[in-house]
Amino acid sequence: MTGTTSAGTVRLADDLVLTRMGYGAIQLAGPMAWGPPKDRDAAKSVLRAVVDLGITHIDTSDYYGPHTVNELIRETLHPYPAGLHVVTKVGARRGPDKSWPAALSRDELVQAVHDNLEHLGVESLDLVNLRMTDSREAAITGPFSVLAGLQRDGLIRHLGVSNVSGEQVAAAQSIAPVVAVQNFYNLAVRADDALVDQCAEQGIAFVPFFPLGGFRPLQSGVLDEVAAGLGISRMQVALAWLLQRSPTILLIPGTSSVAHLRENAGAAGVDLPAEAVAALNAVGTAGRFAPWEQR
Ligand SMILES: NC(=O)c1ccc[n+]([C@@H]2O[C@H](COP(=O)([O-])OP(=O)(O)OC[C@H]3O[C@@H](n4cnc5c(N)ncnc54)[C@H](OP(=O)(O)O)[C@@H]3O)[C@@H](O)[C@H]2O)c1
Repeated sequence: MTGTTSAGTVRLADDLVLTRMGYGAIQLAGPMAWGPPKDRDAAKSVLRAVVDLGITHIDTSDYYGPHTVNELIRETLHPYPAGLHVVTKVGARRGPDKSWPAALSRDELVQAVHDNLEHLGVESLDLVNLRMTDSREAAITGPFSVLAGLQRDGLIRHLGVSNVSGEQVAAAQSIAPVVAVQNFYNLAVRADDALVDQCAEQGIAFVPFFPLGGFRPLQSGVLDEVAAGLGISRMQVALAWLLQRSPTILLIPGTSSVAHLRENAGAAGVDLPAEAVAALNAVGTAGRFAPWEQR
């Protein structure tokens, strides 16, 4: 097993080269992504370890906390090392009850971009994902056009989309280039298999959120058997499976722990044998829920 960078990088643009093993910062806010964290110093140690591991892709949003995670990133890492990309998302906000209502109006999107710029301490954002609602039918062109306008103004370098169907990706592409798609996808939840392939064909990053199952951690006897056979952890198997699934899949596993971060980064060097991949392929479901949580 070798280091984080052994899974390589994906070049999404000349100024946007991301390590396939990245880091999702949501867990730094605390439970339910609601800040402040119990231990700010521990959260900052995780961010320093991310950079020490050679990871160049940190996924965040100003609504994690809210604001807390971006403030932690700025306090710990600004001025940002060359090559590090902090990728953010807009399109939701937090209610006082910790809910995640949509925030897709022009005013809300413009405000969210300015909040990210301020809290991250930058003059332009490397990559902004437009997070749509859970409906795959929603019209994306209106809100995506707002972000494309901010890109023309120089506030955003590159655009991505999140929580979307293939049709919504195509609709966004009719307005401006899309370099990344961020959707719920993992070993067990495979509803977006076709979109994963569509992204690879077009050279677009597919960035699965909840790669480890999110609020409901992955569970599978097959995962445990493969992990035991290879002498690695079940989370490393789950991440290695995603890396072999498509050359344009980029990982952003979330953790609040340096030990888990190092463990997850180790998955970059795991080469799964073909028979393990075949067994793991059978765990998935084409639905939007894992097999153990079908409703
Ligand atoms: N676009 C969207 O709508 C959207 C939605 C959700 C998330 N996201 C992004 O996706 C990223 C990943 O999502 P996520 O963090 O919610 O889910 P995840 O990566 O699937 O799972 C994170 C959970 O797994 C635990 N964990 C991490 N590494 C572990 C390990 N090696 N062993 C055991 N447990 C481990 C974490 O706890 P510990 O802290 O204890 O390690 C945490 O509870 C987020 O950071 C966020 O940036 C995007």
